[in-house]
Amino acid sequence: METTQAQENITAMPRIGDKAPAFKAITTQGEINFPSDYEGEWAILFSHPADFTPVCTSEFITFAHLENKFAKANCKLIGLSIDGLYSHIAWLRTIKEKIEFKGMKDIEVKFPLIEDITMEVAKKYGMIQPGESKTQAVRAVFFVDPKGLIRAIIYYPLSLGRNFDEIYRALIAMQTSDKFSVATPADWNPGDDVIISPAGSCGVAEERMTSSNELKCEDWFFCTKPLNKEEVLDKILKKTKLLTE
Ligand code: BEZ
Repeated sequence: METTQAQENITAMPRIGDKAPAFKAITTQGEINFPSDYEGEWAILFSHPADFTPVCTSEFITFAHLENKFAKANCKLIGLSIDGLYSHIAWLRTIKEKIEFKGMKDIEVKFPLIEDITMEVAKKYGMIQPGESKTQAVRAVFFVDPKGLIRAIIYYPLSLGRNFDEIYRALIAMQTSDKFSVATPADWNPGDDVIISPAGSCGVAEERMTSSNELKCEDWFFCTKPLNKEEVLDKILKKTKLLTE
């Protein structure tokens, strides 16, 4: 089936490794220029389908509750939905005044929530997936690094609330890879062994399998080493107490 230019514009998605598409937007915290306002820090740009909906409300309460934890990892949060500013303001006020979720209540969403009634930003980030909804953004999460590059992307359908522990784990894992030049295996968390880069020559492969050192090699191409949890957190997390704590 042929796709029209308009369809392509809606569904085109930026990819891992791309520069994050730039935009200026109105938010509940004033105007932002993305990603330039966030240079030097990580940013998580995420979309949700609509204000005043239950799954989204549970997600916003959870994310706002974790905002300081992300800030300590040098990461700012930015939300988006295809709603107007006044709807956003009314919804965030309702969340603070009335809604409790899993014991979290009186939650103030302090991070910016983008109004995107024109869908301009949602289209740039492929957040509209017409098979799922033509008018609401899916639950997209873009991890943008301090240089403005997209480093990871998660997409969930409308009905599925995201796992914020996984979003935090992915952020810390990517920062650990950057700081220690390692990769992280399945289900990695700080304190678990990390994977070192594959042997690039037969000599190194042989050495890895024969010499006794801190490496643990399942085979020449799969070697791990310990990386202390405190060392990871010490390098990544900010030491100063945040003003809002
Ligand atoms: C929700 O957030 O509850 C929701 C939004 C759009 C479709 C389905 C669920």
